[in-house]
Amino acid sequence: EQIEKGGYDHFMMKEIYEQPNVIKDTYRGRLHANEGLIKMAGIEDNIDKFINAQRILIVACGTSWHAGLVAEYIFEEFARIPVEVEYASEFRYRNPIIGDKDVLIAISQSGETADTLAAIKLAKEKGAFVFGVCNVVGSSISRETHAGAYTHAGPEIGVASTKAFTTQITVLTMIALRLAKAKGTLSISDYHRYLSELETIPEKVSEALHTNDSAKAIATVFKDATNFLYLGRGYNFPVALEGALKLKEISYIHAEGYPAAEMKHGPIALIDEQMPVVVIAPKQGHYDKVVSNIQEIKSRSGKIIAVVTKGDEQVRALADHVIEIPETSDAMSPLLTTIPLQLLSYHIAVMRGCNVDQPRNLAKSVTVE
Ligand code: G6P
Repeated sequence: EQIEKGGYDHFMMKEIYEQPNVIKDTYRGRLHANEGLIKMAGIEDNIDKFINAQRILIVACGTSWHAGLVAEYIFEEFARIPVEVEYASEFRYRNPIIGDKDVLIAISQSGETADTLAAIKLAKEKGAFVFGVCNVVGSSISRETHAGAYTHAGPEIGVASTKAFTTQITVLTMIALRLAKAKGTLSISDYHRYLSELETIPEKVSEALHTNDSAKAIATVFKDATNFLYLGRGYNFPVALEGALKLKEISYIHAEGYPAAEMKHGPIALIDEQMPVVVIAPKQGHYDKVVSNIQEIKSRSGKIIAVVTKGDEQVRALADHVIEIPETSDAMSPLLTTIPLQLLSYHIAVMRGCNVDQPRNLAKSVTVE
């Protein structure tokens, strides 16, 4: 097992550090930035289904559901197709209105999650075209869907999902770009810019991994906290949910992810000097709005841990701790902002003596209801 961990103390850490390579594996042979092409067989063979879709429904559970939420923002912005994202467990039991003009995308690392599988069967019965985004080759979901695209993240052993999440986002981003090209919904220059940017992501993820030392130092300060709040807006709202989920899963600290602006409708009541608040505040996106949210937290003495773009001075002046990540477009920022949050939860869990790779009560794959 020690050998399988490749020199890391835990599978989770190994998998966090694999992300630059597996993101590259995921787009290898599919993304041809120089030629301005994205080639994915499962999409090419069914491009009409996607282009003519009246909407895309995304179903998933856990971390995969968070990847679906990121995809909602990307698909709507790039390809201008309405998207709804649902927990598979809710979708399957609510007699959903769905038919042959709908495309359903099921996201699952394992390809074995019972609720996601049941949602797929239901959507097929109702005539929808069902596309899978799975990691495990030959899994039940990959066999049950009409077509699909694998994430090529390699085996994920740690129960808390890390590299599966970023590779799911990579696949979904490529699909959105391919559809944008087919529909002409992005300008030619934006389309090419995003293709080239995607190629730079592995390098930027490597750079984002340099936040490990600051994440560890911050973990030392907050390891005994009993609550955490995670805030983000737009593309980074789902990242806030994912950051909170990672912390809950492996450190057993209660954590809540929230859209930053929605904070005033509830969580702000919880903020005092005991409350660490992780704010995802990259320069692109709704930066000024997030800065004013940070000011609101500060005036209530909350402890601010901010994830910012390299060189940011404004948030640095307000926050108690900052973690710097490389600059990206708003749409691709989740691939980077996620990294320090994975590292932070990892170090907190280790410092609390938790079983990082196999947290209590959790399973890698939930194959029963
Ligand atoms: C379990 C795992 C999570 C995972 C979720 C969905 O809860 O512990 O890490 O995100 O299932 O699994 P799937 O394999 O469908 O992505």
